Amino acid sequence: MKSNPILSHNVHLNRWVNKMAALCRPDQIHWVDGSRGEYNQLCDGMVKQGTLTRLNRKEWPGCFLARSDARDVARVEERTFICSLSQNAAGPTNNWMEPFAMRRKLRGLFQGCMAGRTMYVLAFSMGPVGSPMSQIGVQLTDSPYVVVSMRIMARIGRKVFALIDRDFKRVVPCMHSVGAPLGPGAKDVPWPCNDEKYIVHFPETREIWSYGSGYGGNALVGKKCFALRIASAMARDEGWLAEHMLILGVEDPRGEKTYVAAAFPSACGKTNFAMMIPPEPMKKKGWKVWTVGDDIAWIKPDAAGRLHAINPEAGFFGVAPGTSMRTNPNAMAALRKNTLFTNVALTDDGGVWWEGMTEQPPSHLVDWQGRDWTPALARETGALAAHPNARFTAPAAQCPTMDPDWEKPEGVPISAIIFGGRRATTLPLVYQTFNWSSGVYAGATMGSEMTAAAAGTVGKVRRDPMAMIPFCGYHMGDYFRHWINIQRRLKETPRIFNVNWFRKNGAGAYLWPGFSQNLRVLKWIVDRVRGRALGRETPIGWVPRYEDFDWDGLDFPREQFESLQEFDRASWRMEIIGQGELFFDLHDRLPKELVYERELLICRM
Ligand code: GTP
Ligand code: SPV
Ligand code: MN
Repeated sequence: MKSNPILSHNVHLNRWVNKMAALCRPDQIHWVDGSRGEYNQLCDGMVKQGTLTRLNRKEWPGCFLARSDARDVARVEERTFICSLSQNAAGPTNNWMEPFAMRRKLRGLFQGCMAGRTMYVLAFSMGPVGSPMSQIGVQLTDSPYVVVSMRIMARIGRKVFALIDRDFKRVVPCMHSVGAPLGPGAKDVPWPCNDEKYIVHFPETREIWSYGSGYGGNALVGKKCFALRIASAMARDEGWLAEHMLILGVEDPRGEKTYVAAAFPSACGKTNFAMMIPPEPMKKKGWKVWTVGDDIAWIKPDAAGRLHAINPEAGFFGVAPGTSMRTNPNAMAALRKNTLFTNVALTDDGGVWWEGMTEQPPSHLVDWQGRDWTPALARETGALAAHPNARFTAPAAQCPTMDPDWEKPEGVPISAIIFGGRRATTLPLVYQTFNWSSGVYAGATMGSEMTAAAAGTVGKVRRDPMAMIPFCGYHMGDYFRHWINIQRRLKETPRIFNVNWFRKNGAGAYLWPGFSQNLRVLKWIVDRVRGRALGRETPIGWVPRYEDFDWDGLDFPREQFESLQEFDRASWRMEIIGQGELFFDLHDRLPKELVYERELLICRM
């Protein structure tokens, strides 16, 4: 088979590449060196093919727009499988199929699936190349869009192959195909994909097979498939945590930095929180937020018994709608150049736009499906210019607030863990749990209203423990047990908090302004961690008093704060009954600590 020069001499790797090429039958093989030149060539090729549109070079240098197939716009959770040997190892919250049956199915699907296409051999490191906390994968893919996206999202190419050859490191093999073979002379489409989709993980053999989708977490397999589903299984075996969390550092007026990690479900504010700019008066006092990561954290106890975290990614795959100079100027700066946009709208002068980017929409756009769009049409039909799950893929290094230590091989020390969901009622703006096990309980019982990040019913509350329900590669009950156990390896236990930016009043308006104002909550958290703030005890945990917040520059009446923090017994009663439903499903593997925490909570009520 035609191939460019191979980039690794690892026998196992080469044998596997050849075997997979024989299965998928691509026209040629391309070993990805990860250079800028290669990236440019791939982008030019996709422009010719109609997959990418080059944006206005002056305003958006190095930026492209991709429009996906309308049937391939988000993660497909119902098509995601954890194929452990026993179904009980995957647990009731994951789809499962018997591994041998699944392998047979996949062999059929991948047979000849790359005909007429190039198979790219893409080596990637999740985490800084050579960090003791990093992991390596090799993805074989027939999507050049995936290759260029992965060049932004991970460390790829020659330096990773060199590591594979030098250290003989264990590599996670990842197969990916969009599932659209081309017959001889057949014309390709801009976004090839297949209606039949399979996103499959074998946690015991640490393998990933993804078929039929070219979009986001389905296709950029380093992200959710590897860095969460496979890594969570590795982490359980090896005594660390692979979490759906942002990581940030808060610098206070004394110049001290406190790092926190926070788990919010998909499209619930991680990117915004990780890149927060303090409100003006607090900035003047010396508050600053430093970004380490916006989606995934790998957290490990160090030799001294303190949790340290790395961001395994190198880029942001962020939700575009709602991102603006007002809500997130750092993201706007990060995506100004060298960024791939997917499913946003195109402006008449070759720029991009999405709902919420500016208050006034442009008078004419081409929408995410390539159709004409005007504000009048939107008023009439409700047509959105950008898809609600439209995303930007931008290099992390371009974000102005990246922490000087964001690529430190040993990670940053974590002093607090924050859980949070999107809840219109019941959950207060912030509370601190009593201790590690009550904190794990708060994480384990998290609920959130569903968003467009995954196919499903938007708005419905579902239990999403630690924001990991779509991402945990094994039984959720065992995962809770692992969380409980981690504390035994710690000399310093991070404090655990819960936040909710999304509580609404009776009229359906948010009670809390959110975004940069969230620093006021973060300040209370840092003050609590450092023993500088009092709290008030409630049945669920410690809450701030009105006077514990810094209100400088924000006119926020005491009564509104009280309704934001209100602990309402009747709705908490319903909440605890709702939490019980998930526990019911997991009962045979639920740690007794969590059963007791639930009992204690009911007693305190
Ligand atoms: P994934 O990348 O899907 O894991 O999501 P994420 O958690 O990084 O989501 P992101 O930060 O992109 O948040 C997306 C949505 O949350 C957007 O619609 C934002 O406008 C909204 N959002 C973020 N922060 C706040 C906030 O403080 N208040 C309110 N009301 N909305 C917020
Ligand atoms: C999420 O859905 O949580 C994401 C986007 O971060 S994706 O990579 O598509 O999973
Ligand atoms: Mn995510």
